[in-house]
Amino acid sequence: MCGIIGAIANRDITSVLIDGLKRLEYRGYDSAGLAVIDSDGELDLRRSVGRVVALEKICSDIHGHLGIAHTRWATHGRPAENNAHPHTSSHQVAVVHNGIIENHESLRQSQKEMGFPFSSETDTEVIVHQIDHHMQNGADLLCAVQNTVDELNGAYGLGVVSKQDTSRIIAARNGSPLLIGLGEDENFIASDMSALIPVAKQYMVLEDGDIADVTGTTVDIYDRDRKPVQRKVLVSSLSDDETSLDGYAHFMKKEIHEQTRAITETLEGRLGANSVLEIPFGENAKEIFDAAREIKIIACGTSYNAACVARYWFEEFGIRCDVEIASEYRYRKHVVNDGTLFVTISQSGETLDTMAALEMAKGLGYSNTLCICNAPESSLARASDLTIFTHAGREIGVASTKAFTTQLVTLLMLAICLRRRALNLSAEGDKIEHEIVLELRSLPSQIEHALGLEDDIIAMSKHFADRQHTLFLGRGAHYPIAVEGALKLKEISYIHAEAYAAGELKHGPLALVDADMPVVAVAPNNELLGKLKSNLEEVRARGGRLFVFADIDSGIHSDDDTHVLHVAPVNNYIAPIIYTIPLQLLSYHVALLKGTDIDKPRNLAKSVTVE
Ligand code: AGP
Repeated sequence: MCGIIGAIANRDITSVLIDGLKRLEYRGYDSAGLAVIDSDGELDLRRSVGRVVALEKICSDIHGHLGIAHTRWATHGRPAENNAHPHTSSHQVAVVHNGIIENHESLRQSQKEMGFPFSSETDTEVIVHQIDHHMQNGADLLCAVQNTVDELNGAYGLGVVSKQDTSRIIAARNGSPLLIGLGEDENFIASDMSALIPVAKQYMVLEDGDIADVTGTTVDIYDRDRKPVQRKVLVSSLSDDETSLDGYAHFMKKEIHEQTRAITETLEGRLGANSVLEIPFGENAKEIFDAAREIKIIACGTSYNAACVARYWFEEFGIRCDVEIASEYRYRKHVVNDGTLFVTISQSGETLDTMAALEMAKGLGYSNTLCICNAPESSLARASDLTIFTHAGREIGVASTKAFTTQLVTLLMLAICLRRRALNLSAEGDKIEHEIVLELRSLPSQIEHALGLEDDIIAMSKHFADRQHTLFLGRGAHYPIAVEGALKLKEISYIHAEAYAAGELKHGPLALVDADMPVVAVAPNNELLGKLKSNLEEVRARGGRLFVFADIDSGIHSDDDTHVLHVAPVNNYIAPIIYTIPLQLLSYHVALLKGTDIDKPRNLAKSVTVE
């Protein structure tokens, strides 16, 4: 999704801007651009559709000490050079913008009446004209931005420069993350710290309503009431180590294979001999867990699928658990029972719908807010009472893999902590807790074993590459695993994939089944296996082609219409984590055969920071 970087320094900053844009590529985008105040004091604007390397090629002759740059993920107006940011007005002012301006139509109308010419279809262009309008009426750059944001409805992270004042960048935030990176006699703005890894360690996070006046040596921040405020200086722990492919063809493949390490690190320090430890979850974890009698989980996409798996664990352990998609939760009324813990799950910690749901929930009487997150320096982590980090390491592929399995591990540990309270058990737990802890410890080696299915999955993937549609089936906690498998396949191979609880097949989707429709199923050896087998028979009876990941002892075997890959026996609690792996590998290898852009699939973004 859109990314911002800006720089003011005593050196040429064009390469800093280009490098920062490359570091923001993982978020997903369709065009890029930059505006630099060049050595003649002129505003030099370059924009291009496609990858940042295309922009880099047309920027070799630009030099300057002050500039802003942007990767755009189209919302208003198609991906095109004229819609790419920065946007300018009268060749005086340039703006980069993340977010959506909701009253852009009325502003556009009044600006047209004032004679401002429009060159894009974006909602952003009204911002730059409005700033220009206020400057033409005598306001300096800071005041012009202040006046403008007062007239905007919607979400924005803004970077603004003007050739009339080449000593500053103005940054403004409302609902779209923005931070200030602090260097030595040089300062930066960025939508996330990964853009600034080589140039700044220290940074300040702007809060909603803040406007920052950033020069090379000073940062002055004003809050919503325009009062000067200090924001905490933080130290970033991000490094470049996690951003190389290490010989893999794609980040997604690397991240699938990193799951053994990612899970090991997520468990690190959190397990005692026979129990899940609570202290490592945070100083206030114990009292937050004590107050939690039921759970409400909010998330989007893959993180939502993780929540749906966890609901089976929580409810099996006697804890009421409700799960909802963030974008739906935000727009309805809620009845909140006493002692309900509000949990958000997010890999990036920047998903706008999840963040907005959390802000809304704060006024609704939940006992506390807890976030399960993979990004320590993220907005959700900062805004929650307690954050439990999944230590998956940076995930770059747009399709979430290691973040999902580490979320599941974290949710299972959380479920165990709350189970003790629900069932009045001691801190050392009981037989079931001991069993789960043992299984969690051996999870990395079980994942390794599941990764060993890759060669067989490569062979299986050939049956999918020329298909238009696919069905995924699962039952119980493996129904959301089927949903996650379908999500992976559709997002990176562009094959239409739908998941059903296998028992639902006969209520409609069975009508789709024929020899052209591959049906993928996950069949662990659990109490629902018999039921699932009957559902698979329903598919076979209609001439359907089955591709089943089945427990070796399930009694399900390959024949003419059924391809079975056997999975080693696995404990029921951790089975959903293990059965995720072959589905990730299947989608990866199908996408590889189709030649899609696996790490940056079309139309998608890694970090979804708009509604
Ligand atoms: C997963 O493969 C997706 N690309 C997407 O569904 C993602 O999980 C969703 O946008 C939520 O992101 P978050 O976990 O960073 O909040």
